[in-house]
Amino acid sequence: MTDRYAVIGNPIAHSKSPAIHAAFARQTDQDMEYDRILGQLDDFSADVRAFVAAGGRGLNVTLPFKELAWKLLDDISERAKDARAVNTLSVLDGGLLHGDNTDGLGLIRDLADNHGFSFVGRSVLLVGAGGAARGVLRPLLETGVAALTIANRTAEKAVALAQSARTQGPVCGCGLDQLGDQQFDLIINATSAGLSDRALELPSGCLAERGWVYDMFYGDQPTDFCRWGLAQGAKNVIDGLGMLVEQAAEAFLIWRGLRPETAPVITALREGQLSTTPP
Ligand code: ATR
Repeated sequence: MTDRYAVIGNPIAHSKSPAIHAAFARQTDQDMEYDRILGQLDDFSADVRAFVAAGGRGLNVTLPFKELAWKLLDDISERAKDARAVNTLSVLDGGLLHGDNTDGLGLIRDLADNHGFSFVGRSVLLVGAGGAARGVLRPLLETGVAALTIANRTAEKAVALAQSARTQGPVCGCGLDQLGDQQFDLIINATSAGLSDRALELPSGCLAERGWVYDMFYGDQPTDFCRWGLAQGAKNVIDGLGMLVEQAAEAFLIWRGLRPETAPVITALREGQLSTTPP
């Protein structure tokens, strides 16, 4: 019988996840289908329950439900607990719901495996202190970085987030305007600034020579943050498309027990060879 999966979010029409998972399923010869569900803003849990009642096996959860999914779970992974958000939901035997978060690992895999960034001994700046930053914090600290600085427009949120992770590695928090003349080997954007039209302000010169810039978001055109990285002379400027595919591959592994090849899927998406528009 064909196993059913889906991504749930609101809005959802733009999601590339159905195209990514369809490509993984073809590649690994899995009998599965993967849809998109427009979740109800006022009753997300009803949509999840209906999906499970209809025999669904797993859901990817995206904005704005990642933190709400938490409440529906019977079991939750350590990494989802750290992130306080769930992006992968699995239906276990008896209809029990397991929640996990693969976003952080997706970021690390994209940077380390796909692009060859070596984290050990590096100084990293994580810009932003919301859900996106929280989701990648622990995986970043586990890479062996020399120092991780969280900088946020609202300084208190960065300080509190750093404080919450202080037992996990060398991390500190500050305001964006308190970075002074520090320099970083890697600067990661985890703010939603690129999603709005308000520009993100970073001190020029904060990227070390041959430093890298990573935007957790992506678009058809280079993002504002990627453009900033290019203007700073970054050695490598990367958007979040690879992270999206890598977090999906981790979810696929949880559900199907096999890890698909991500490189051909990333290339196909970049070259517009995978249709991502809803039928
Ligand atoms: P998410 O869960 O997607 O991370 P969020 O919790 O609303 O979303 O957090 C958004 C992040 O983007 C915050 O770190 C926010 O900074 P504040 O905490 O000061 O609000 C940051 N952000 C949004 N717009 C920004 C801008 N124009 N400049 C700098 N930071 C911005």
